[in-house]
Amino acid sequence: MSAPSWFGHRRIDLIECGSTNDEAAALARAGAAHGTIVIAQRQTAGRGRDGRAWVSPPGGLYLSAVLRPAIAPADVPPLTLAIGVAACDAAREFGAPAELKWPNDLYVRGKKLAGVLVEAQSQAGRLEVVIAGIGVNLATTPELDTATAIGNVDRERFIARLCAQLETWIDRYVGAGIAAIAPAWRDRMMRDLVLRAGELVGTLAGLDDDGALLLQSDDGRVHRIRSGDVAVLPRLRSS
Ligand code: BTN
Repeated sequence: MSAPSWFGHRRIDLIECGSTNDEAAALARAGAAHGTIVIAQRQTAGRGRDGRAWVSPPGGLYLSAVLRPAIAPADVPPLTLAIGVAACDAAREFGAPAELKWPNDLYVRGKKLAGVLVEAQSQAGRLEVVIAGIGVNLATTPELDTATAIGNVDRERFIARLCAQLETWIDRYVGAGIAAIAPAWRDRMMRDLVLRAGELVGTLAGLDDDGALLLQSDDGRVHRIRSGDVAVLPRLRSS
């Protein structure tokens, strides 16, 4: 895979900021081009999905990109899956056996390694900009009590590979849609999980062709989950 041509062609490096997604959104409002990225060494108000905080000590990678893809607003949510595949492949290149958890998490041996936060702005039914934020735990720090990190990684080499993977998978998604992403996502997904989605508890049954999560409840029915939070539950073992 060659060096990226558009992803990261303009790069802003910050020692500290509140959230790189906010910095990238401000750049987008000022007209920043597709592929502009912001990277911070630490964040004071990093955020994840559903208003959760994303603990962002030095040693992690906090990267947000301004994207202006030619897609409809309704096609933004599956972009998270494409970005997850890209981050997973970058982590694997550095020896971390990363796996995907729907819709936006990367895990290694059951512990969280990275997360994706995609935020979009549309006007009159037209997508204006997407801000794609990725947080990756590169180094183990005391703040990451239940999470995990890649460890022993050259930060700049990792950024270069992540940017190259992101360009590849985003281009695939924009060019060919979720059909070009779903098989790769299935190959990399965490398996054998019990999940809770709202009131529903079930075992992971896979990913549908349109990017919806498939969850099988105890009565055998398979449910399609298209949005919302999904929690991993411990498996009850009989002794
Ligand atoms: C999640 O797991 O819920 C998503 C976490 C996303 C964190 C990244 S770090 C870079 C960017 N800036 C933020 O404030 N959030 C994203």
